[in-house]
Amino acid sequence: MKGLFATALAVLLLAGCAGNQTPASSPTLDEVFATRRSIRAYEAGKTISEAEVRELLTATQNAPSWANQQPSKYYVAIGAEKREAVLELIGGNKERVINAPVFIVSTFERGKSGFFRGTPTDATGDFWGAYDNGLSNAYLILKARAMGFDTLIMGMRDADALRALFAIPENETVLAVIALGYRAQDPSTPVHRPLDEIAKFF
Ligand SMILES: Cc1cc2nc3c(=O)[nH]c(=O)nc-3n(C[C@H](O)[C@H](O)[C@H](O)COP(=O)(O)O)c2cc1C
Repeated sequence: MKGLFATALAVLLLAGCAGNQTPASSPTLDEVFATRRSIRAYEAGKTISEAEVRELLTATQNAPSWANQQPSKYYVAIGAEKREAVLELIGGNKERVINAPVFIVSTFERGKSGFFRGTPTDATGDFWGAYDNGLSNAYLILKARAMGFDTLIMGMRDADALRALFAIPENETVLAVIALGYRAQDPSTPVHRPLDEIAKFF
């Protein structure tokens, strides 16, 4: 009887503890800004699932784009074969991201953002597409940090070889490759220019 009482009490206590557990809370936007850094060393042996990458890319769809043209496209190297192939197409970045489990190639479709019925609406032309892709990628790297991942945007890459590897259509411009993984280094915050050097108030 005494044993039964002790067991019941233990079960109740455990249930109580479980009920009091606070769920892991999401970081605030400021925390994401403060901890997001370009990471150049990743933990080996850790994986990121396709479902997690899908969640990340779904977040990028909230990014604004010129007349909602949504020109950004993503090619995800998550399987070993494509991952290893991408590692050979990023020059000196290879050693920095060798342990990152996922690489995401970002492109944008030309002739969409900045265009109306095939004609550029101003001198900016396809730069609006690049602008939109940058915005979308900003969402990507910030969402990644909020999910506990780390990233490195890589402009040093062989765009032609990536086009061939992923059968990227000719009407898309290949921009960055983004490494996605878990940090294996404590990065320092780079020096930022004084605000009054980059912003003028009138
Ligand atoms: C368009 C672009 C291209 C970049 N290319 C590379 C690259 O090829 N290799 C690299 O190590 N870092 C690259 N970076 C990362 C920058 O060096 C980094 O963002 C910058 O030094 C600021 O550091 P932070 O991201 O930690 O704030 C790139 C960043 C951007 C936005």
